Amino acid sequence: MDLISIRDLDRKTVERLLDSADAIANGKKKPDMGGKILATLFFEPSTRTKLSFQSAALRSHMGYLDFDPETSSLRKGESFADTVRTVEGYADVLAIRHPKEGAARLAADFASKPVINCGDGANQHPTQTLIDLFTIRRCKGRISGLNVTLLGDLKHARTMRSLVCGLAMFGANVTLVSPEGLEMDQAYVDEVKGRFDFKVTARNEPDYRNADVLYVCRIQQERFADPYEAKKITEKFMVKKEAIEAAREDLVILHPLPKVNEIEAAIDGMKQAKYFDQAHYGIPVREAILEYALG
Ligand code: NCD
Repeated sequence: MDLISIRDLDRKTVERLLDSADAIANGKKKPDMGGKILATLFFEPSTRTKLSFQSAALRSHMGYLDFDPETSSLRKGESFADTVRTVEGYADVLAIRHPKEGAARLAADFASKPVINCGDGANQHPTQTLIDLFTIRRCKGRISGLNVTLLGDLKHARTMRSLVCGLAMFGANVTLVSPEGLEMDQAYVDEVKGRFDFKVTARNEPDYRNADVLYVCRIQQERFADPYEAKKITEKFMVKKEAIEAAREDLVILHPLPKVNEIEAAIDGMKQAKYFDQAHYGIPVREAILEYALG
């Protein structure tokens, strides 16, 4: 089974995946995938997604092959399609990250083995969304009815585009907050609104006081045509400790990481900061995803 976009999953399937990840995290379930092989093909930098997939594979009694584009035959001019067609013969499931929107869907068209999208350009990042929903559910006991603020570069961040759909599916109230010019594509928001009954509002300044969850992401400078523009915004854009002190005590702050300087370092030590727990939940969630993909 491929996992290309969170839009391809229904709520029941997402709940089943989250329940399975819960059982793994609580030590009640230990997947054994009997020596199957994961191939990680990452054409963009990654720390968490790649390593947690590899770790999840090892914990599920799988092996993994790591494809490095820099030392591969891509350097001799081999195409993406031929690379996918070749590697799928060496593995049972492919985890792919690529800078181009639609690349994972394209790979799934070439490959007969399951493809997991680990981020395609500014489009989707479904495995991160499952981790985000899992973390919110674990911290808050529910997703439905929560006030969730998404703050950052909503124009380019695939984590945010994916997450809006996941939150909508569970009936959260979403506030989109971005610096001017970095708003989420309205056509995409309208598409999600057309599918799910949820409240979504957009603003340019954060109001942390009513938020149950604050989800921050960095300015995605690699997706800007002009790096100077990105730098200017990055320098101005930071969540401050005093703003969090004025927010709800049980606020949960999430971030897909890497964080650069959009969260003041002093926040890391506050009890509201849950982003490293979130990164570690990548293991049980991705174990559940591997089991789902290999079905
Ligand atoms: C994100 C990504 O690659 O989209 N990282 C991740 O997978 N945890 C977020 C980002 O790079 O800003």
